[in-house]
Amino acid sequence: MSSMSPTPAEPSPSRTAAVIPAAGRGVRLGPGTPKALRALGGTPMLIHAVRAMAASRAVTLVVLVAPPDGAAEVKNLIDGHALPERTDYVVVPGGATRQESVRLGLDALPDDVSVVLVHDAARPLVPVDTVDAVIEAVRDGAPAVVPALPLADTVKEVEPAEPGVPEPVLSTPVRVRLRAVQTPQGFDRDTLVRAHESVAVDGEGATDDAGMVERLGAPVVVVPGHEEAFKVTRPLDLVLAEAVLARRRANDGF
Ligand code: CTP
Ligand code: MG
Repeated sequence: MSSMSPTPAEPSPSRTAAVIPAAGRGVRLGPGTPKALRALGGTPMLIHAVRAMAASRAVTLVVLVAPPDGAAEVKNLIDGHALPERTDYVVVPGGATRQESVRLGLDALPDDVSVVLVHDAARPLVPVDTVDAVIEAVRDGAPAVVPALPLADTVKEVEPAEPGVPEPVLSTPVRVRLRAVQTPQGFDRDTLVRAHESVAVDGEGATDDAGMVERLGAPVVVVPGHEEAFKVTRPLDLVLAEAVLARRRANDGF
């Protein structure tokens, strides 16, 4: 033993943190500002996402993973928008893939964090009940928890071909067994860190943290997601997001 640390009278309280990858360009949304900095209802998307995480009383730390050259701008943005008193935040620069950005966010977590949410900045409107349901399932003992919804469309696996060439269908998974997964995904911190240490970044990198935990062989469970937790990916999604915000304003106002 090289260090003598005093034995605490009781275990130190464990905290829940949210890591928000927001470093993507938003290529599918079209040219312009990085996606997470685009405005929805006049407020940048990443501010909505930070507020959605901070809305949960359990979340006392938010780690925002900013576009690599935009960390200072993002820090200023967050400083300019009120967050609950209980919520600390940290801004770190992101990486070239989502997987790397999440990893950089995990590296910034203090020791007393034991539960980690990973939430896409591109899902700005997730309701707090969904966030709380994920946290509760992790606290109840699941090492990895994913909010998800049944699919509306039937899905086919194809052999990808060049644009303009019809793609052969390989199989049609039974739709009732499929789920479209959302975020925040919730994890036992050590499990998620181990997953990120053991899965190398390959090409575009992993787009789903729970999938990396699956590769470790650890169990992953699904809880109900929410239609308002959809990801803003293409231009039509912006129209839907504005409509959801307008509906919320109308409901709050009357
Ligand atoms: N993300 C990130 N770092 C990257 C790439 C993506 O932090 N290098 C984040 C995005 O900011 C987003 C989330 O991961 O909040 C989900 O990614 P996606 O919806 O694919 O966003 P983009 O990668 O920005 O969009 P696109 O793939 O259309 O470029
Ligand atoms: Mg992407």
